[in-house]
Amino acid sequence: MSAHTDGHFSSRIGFIMAAAGSAVGVGNIWGFPTQAATHGGGAFLLVYVLLIILLGYPMLMAELMVGRHGQTNPADAMAKLGRNKLSQNIGKTIGLISIITATLICTFYSILSGWFISFALAPIAEIAQQPNIAHWLTDFSISRNLTFTLVFICLVILVIRQGIQNGIERWSKRLMPMLLLMLIGGAAYILSQPGAITGLKVLLVPDFSMVFHTDVLVSALGQTFFSLSVGTGAMMVYGAYLNKQENLSQLTAYVTLTDTMVAFLAALMIIPAMYVAQHNGVQIFADDGSLLNSDTLVFTVLPALFDSIGGMSQYLLAIVFFALMTIAGLTSAMSIVEVPTSYIVEKTSIKRGKATLIVGTVIAVIASFIVFNFSALFGFIITMTTERAQPLIALGIAIFMGWVWHRNDLLAEIAQQDGVNQNSLFWRVWQVYVKYVCPLLIIVIIMQLFS
Ligand code: PFF
Repeated sequence: MSAHTDGHFSSRIGFIMAAAGSAVGVGNIWGFPTQAATHGGGAFLLVYVLLIILLGYPMLMAELMVGRHGQTNPADAMAKLGRNKLSQNIGKTIGLISIITATLICTFYSILSGWFISFALAPIAEIAQQPNIAHWLTDFSISRNLTFTLVFICLVILVIRQGIQNGIERWSKRLMPMLLLMLIGGAAYILSQPGAITGLKVLLVPDFSMVFHTDVLVSALGQTFFSLSVGTGAMMVYGAYLNKQENLSQLTAYVTLTDTMVAFLAALMIIPAMYVAQHNGVQIFADDGSLLNSDTLVFTVLPALFDSIGGMSQYLLAIVFFALMTIAGLTSAMSIVEVPTSYIVEKTSIKRGKATLIVGTVIAVIASFIVFNFSALFGFIITMTTERAQPLIALGIAIFMGWVWHRNDLLAEIAQQDGVNQNSLFWRVWQVYVKYVCPLLIIVIIMQLFS
């Protein structure tokens, strides 16, 4: 991500890797399967895929477009769309809320990613015949959670500070395909196991009566924006680093497709794996049929899957898988930390290195507070940021783009792209769509919460 050193992405592929790196993360492999398992399997998948097409893709493009137009942090980029003082101030406020939301997301994201680090280390402790350490690494104690949350935050800060983004970019290019291969291999293996077909049915056959459930709709909306990193300013910041000539319609499509495919593959592995684990005597559901410990589902089911392979390969697979997950989490967290960092660097005389330290410290303090009050705060912060703040910020962006931004400026922004005619059907439909349909859809789904 040379973006952070020279102000722009070095290449088209550099942008795709960074944006896909932001999108593909813990949300795909932990979030999506957990949400699908909790909210009716196939019904959730159906609503999710529809929302990705109807809202995810157009809104991701809108956010990138606003960022690229603004060439600055989210607060000022939104303010730039305003026509008068009032709308500029409202735009700035929406941008500032997105910066706060990004910071809060980074807190629970670091806790989650810390779990992946400790699960990558546990098999090493097993191989070294240190059962006590292995046990500590895989229990969800405060000391373990705190340690690895802080380790993860340090890793993110180190990467951003030292400017080795090129390293991450290069590594992502190698590791993302590996992650994909592992997911395909994992899904293929699990589907050959007894009990898996029940899980496959749960995932693929929607119960249509659940499709309009408030819970399913609102969770799928949150998951859509969370997975595509929309409504946090992260994509606005990445848009600001992107060349004006690049055609956003294609780049956004690549990012959306990659992200959705990884989420689907993860669910294809994990949901059947739940039923295989259950078949093998692991308790997954409570007596009332609800999921036991849904937050830690992936960490119960995957080790059970690796165990069933046995031998040395179980350890190797576990190390590689959880290490890849840590890297997926890292490339996402970098984009989140970039949101407040870009703001501080642009608004004050504080240098990049120090700004990342300040942001890292704030995130570490809040994350530690959540670790100590886990049951009260963890789920609460996730709901407030992903299911409330992100959709509302996306709503603000859609309204600003459709109703506040001068049409001629938007058309000029669109026309700058190579090979794009702003009067083509695609771009005309997209503008009308973001102006009318996106806000309406978001409002209708959010209103469900109050009905
Ligand atoms: N999209 C990331 C994931 O699915 O894990 C999470 C994320 C990254 C959310 C960046 C928000 C964000 F700004």
